[in-house]
Amino acid sequence: MSLWSRLKRKSSKFKSPSAIGQAIKDNLPESEMIESTSVAGPGFVNIVLSKEWMAKCIQNMLKKGIKIWAPRLNVQRAVVDFSSPNIAKEMHVGHLRSTIMGDTFARMLEFSNVEVLRRNHVGDWGTQFGMLIEYLFEEFPNWEEVGEQAIGDLQAFYKKSKQRFDEDLDFKERAQQAVVSLQGSEDENDMYRKAWTKICEISRMEFQQVYERLKVDLEERGESFYNPYIAEVLKGLENKGLIEKNQGAQVISIKGKDIPLIVVKSDGGYNYASTDLTALWYRLNIEEAEWIIYVTDAGQQMHFEMVFSAAKLAGWLPDDEKLCPYPKTSHVAFGVVHGTDHKRFRTRSSDVVRLVDLLDEAKLRSKLTLEERGRAAEWSEKDLDETAEAVGYGAVKYADLKNNRLTEYTFSYDRMLSDKGNTAVYLLYAHARICSVIRKSGRDVEELKMAGTIVLDHVDERGLGLHLLQFAEVVEEACTNLLPNVLCEYLYNLSENFTKFYTNCQVVGSEKESSRLLLCEATAVVMRKCFHLLGIEPVYKL
Ligand code: ARG
Repeated sequence: MSLWSRLKRKSSKFKSPSAIGQAIKDNLPESEMIESTSVAGPGFVNIVLSKEWMAKCIQNMLKKGIKIWAPRLNVQRAVVDFSSPNIAKEMHVGHLRSTIMGDTFARMLEFSNVEVLRRNHVGDWGTQFGMLIEYLFEEFPNWEEVGEQAIGDLQAFYKKSKQRFDEDLDFKERAQQAVVSLQGSEDENDMYRKAWTKICEISRMEFQQVYERLKVDLEERGESFYNPYIAEVLKGLENKGLIEKNQGAQVISIKGKDIPLIVVKSDGGYNYASTDLTALWYRLNIEEAEWIIYVTDAGQQMHFEMVFSAAKLAGWLPDDEKLCPYPKTSHVAFGVVHGTDHKRFRTRSSDVVRLVDLLDEAKLRSKLTLEERGRAAEWSEKDLDETAEAVGYGAVKYADLKNNRLTEYTFSYDRMLSDKGNTAVYLLYAHARICSVIRKSGRDVEELKMAGTIVLDHVDERGLGLHLLQFAEVVEEACTNLLPNVLCEYLYNLSENFTKFYTNCQVVGSEKESSRLLLCEATAVVMRKCFHLLGIEPVYKL
């Protein structure tokens, strides 16, 4: 039809869109993929895929593994900058969202054969360290010997040191001096360095508890890592004439923005932007990443737009993405998480939610449900615990991933742990049910995979087969557009397609048992891959 709009003005032999459609149909080359073609309505060319070809593709995947359905991307190496909480400050639900989403992007890219550098860009270099260090010296004179546990809750520690900072001028001065001493020293045995290391370690233990529960793999490369490179990188920008003086600060003007990007503060200190510019330089030039992905809440959009624009001005990134798509940067922005009271998310007991408590509660609730269903009597304690964990954490992750990331969403245990609707629980059930069908058939699927044939005669067999075949393109779309909800939607529709098939096509005991068992197995394999890409642990019985 778009050809028609171009040809109609010229005197061509085609008198209507359908004539063009017919010409396309007549000239399509023979292909084993195609069963039949037809021209419909105002020129639609309908192509019916061959069911033999579809069956062959699925069988091939079962024989060789789902890896053969991995998308191919034009990227060799990518950085995913995610989670990235701040030392001694609260690790909040926004960081949880970043952790869950970032992990999914990393998994999708890894599956697509991209080498992924998973980076935790923790805020470990701010001016807050002066006050924290001074407070540590004051409260724990023997701080080098005391264990991390003794110092305890760093958020409370932060609050108290802030209070001292605001109330006591003398303390304030010492704290400011401490920042200078810390940032000026590269000696690992320096007292300030050591105190800083200790404080970072305490925070790290808290973060680690979250990462362990979620089974998220991350390499810490905090702000401090880039500090030694900042001066040199800024010098390079200055040599390119990009840096101007503005009210004592050094800034880069960005076209279309009312305010410039401050890269050196008026007191001579570096800031968030100095670090991010340097980190970007490092990732492009030293790590040679072709795609750099940042996962933070939408509030930081302006910051990243400005940093990316500055990198374009510096010639680190191509100007025109259409002419030269790589290297490229993407800011994956997401919306705020609300509590069921529609305010910013928090628990009943306090203003802040410890993420560990939040995750533990999800697990506990799913365990209680399993016990209510009598599983405690049937299963070993280990099975019960592992399943509760898979379901509880899986529910939190899936609730985070299934919505378009830009929409704000409401955190509700009841909704995410429901076994109805588009939830992880429902999908995990669907998977477990398929596994039980296969188990109960008593057939050896591994053997079937090698010897059996799939036949897609029934409409619902065909529908399921077609959906299975769309897996690779969906992963590619979710990955290139950085939209995990696309994969969630696919997974949900897969289980719907399976239900239809299972309702209308008898599996065990039918003439077509072998073929249908293979379709069950292919569905289970694809579902498991989806779970894996979403960071959810599949379960085999529920
Ligand atoms: N630490 C920041 C925060 O908590 C997020 C860092 C994101 N990554 C980056 N390269 N700026 O808001």
